Amino acid sequence: MDLQHIRNFSIIAHIDHGKSTLADRFIQLCDGLSAREMNTQVLDSMDIERERGITIKAQSVTLNFTAKNGEIYQLNFIDTPGHVDFSYEVSRSLAACEGAILVVDAAQGVEAQSVANCYTAIELGLEVMPVLNKIDLPSAEPEKVIKEIEDIIGIPAEQALRISAKTGLGVAEVLEELVHVIPPPEGDVEGPLQALIIDSWFDNYLGVVSLVKIVNGSLRKKQKITIMSTGNSFIAERIGIFTPKRLDTLELKTGQVGFVVGAIKDIFGAPVGDTITLTGNPCAKALPGFQKVQPRVFAGLYPVSSDDYEDLRESLSKLRLNDAALQFEPESSQALGFGFRCGFLGMLHMEIIQERLEREYDVNLITTAPTVIYEVETNKGDVLYVDNPANLPDIGSIKMIREPIIQANILVPQEYLGSVITLCIAKRGVQVNMQYLGSQVSLHYELPLSEVVLDFFDRLKSVSRGYASFEYEFKRFEEAALVKLDVLINGDRVDALSIIVHRDLSQTRGRELVEKMKELIPRQMYEVAIQAAIGGKIIARSTVKSMGKNVTAKCYGGDISRKKKLLEKQKAGKKRMKQVGNIEIPQEAFLAVLQVN
Ligand code: GTP
Repeated sequence: MDLQHIRNFSIIAHIDHGKSTLADRFIQLCDGLSAREMNTQVLDSMDIERERGITIKAQSVTLNFTAKNGEIYQLNFIDTPGHVDFSYEVSRSLAACEGAILVVDAAQGVEAQSVANCYTAIELGLEVMPVLNKIDLPSAEPEKVIKEIEDIIGIPAEQALRISAKTGLGVAEVLEELVHVIPPPEGDVEGPLQALIIDSWFDNYLGVVSLVKIVNGSLRKKQKITIMSTGNSFIAERIGIFTPKRLDTLELKTGQVGFVVGAIKDIFGAPVGDTITLTGNPCAKALPGFQKVQPRVFAGLYPVSSDDYEDLRESLSKLRLNDAALQFEPESSQALGFGFRCGFLGMLHMEIIQERLEREYDVNLITTAPTVIYEVETNKGDVLYVDNPANLPDIGSIKMIREPIIQANILVPQEYLGSVITLCIAKRGVQVNMQYLGSQVSLHYELPLSEVVLDFFDRLKSVSRGYASFEYEFKRFEEAALVKLDVLINGDRVDALSIIVHRDLSQTRGRELVEKMKELIPRQMYEVAIQAAIGGKIIARSTVKSMGKNVTAKCYGGDISRKKKLLEKQKAGKKRMKQVGNIEIPQEAFLAVLQVN
């Protein structure tokens, strides 16, 4: 396949605008899979993705498309996720493409995340081709949405194809237009090999699998390759493409996207963004990699049973291989024992990692309340970065605490503007800009990240009936009146329950927190006193009354099977409890802070 007949593209779309449905249609049109294999959406291959219906990891498919001019094109479609937490993965996939299809739901209009991703694509020099999807819906308003694309994103959209990924209407035209609008890749076919690692993951049978784009040169099966950052060499045991099934080939040429398996046992052997070259004929320089991502949300992950500690470490290492944004380091807690402090991109990222650890790796976890990273300046002039409230230095030695501030870019239909502004103010937001764009309003707010990571996204959706969308970027650290709120259980400070809050909100949060924990901590043999304290001062208290009698006493007399069931249920429930002193604390109580406003 010569370069002129290759097209590498991504689809930029907001969640639910129909990207996966469209991709499946492409696969169908190009005969990538039989109808039987098409029964579920193919690209979202991870269990969790399917259940949540969102695309998390970038994946790729190579398709052969015969255009009207009779020419056969090789289309490499690189999938991208749609959620705010994962925008770094989007730029990673876009870096391997020459063009992107912007899919906009004709009934919903343009959403903030797509705007941000379009800008990234344009900055990377990609050709962006807008397409209006869901044209079959009676509520579709293509003219209005075309205007929005032009006003908000600033690219011409009058000619945008109007399609329905669901019925298939107009889908073939999208591919036809794509081969004309999106340019072929450029590269030196004869030059030394330079392959960009777009993604790497661990496969139980194959070991480390890397998704690569051949930028220059070519790679043949069994050639000896070198990973440029580490200098380590391997034999390219297997190479090939995804159709979407894995298909082995003998060679990958300039412009192609495919996989390489190199008997790399060390799971850090093929870092994402790295360059692969030939050991015998190396290239002079590595390709520019990807921007390093900074985790923004931190939490402690502790195995419920301390025997699982090593398993947890290994599982985290495997997950990190294809998730550069996941960071972790060992930490210990008086209350929880040995575990890891992990850094995530956002709450969704944290939930997904937690679920994958439990589901794919079978480790039972307790997660502590998420926190952001604070910049702490001591009286001595030292600057520390604190990602665990328990590690905050003594209050007397702190000169100031600075918290991360982000700029949120929100798009909201006019009728919900008032409630969105109210929400931003409640979250300590400061308005930077407001602009009316057609029937939507573009709002820019500066907000403390700590207020955003917890539940801002859900609240925004609920006050706007799902219509507001947002994306954000980190701006700076800024001084704020912050205090550490400790939780004492029967008089003992539980380090894993401490949080950092704004002083003005500390009284209310403290009260709400102890009340919430009272609901979440089950009755025990003893009375349990829950207190919230700032420094030495107790600011709130609640009590979980003692249970008195055994739970089985609640059963009807004599019904032994029922009794057994209840005990079993109790045992299962116990799995996610952690014994702290002589009190059993359930997982939910560690996350109670997520449930207070
Ligand atoms: P993420 O993977 O979460 O980013 O979502 P997505 O953009 O891939 O959306 P997906 O393809 O899963 O579609 C979301 C919903 O919209 C599904 O229920 C689809 O059946 C529906 N949908 C997709 N395209 C169309 C369309 O053209 N018309 C109608 N009526 N519904 C569609």
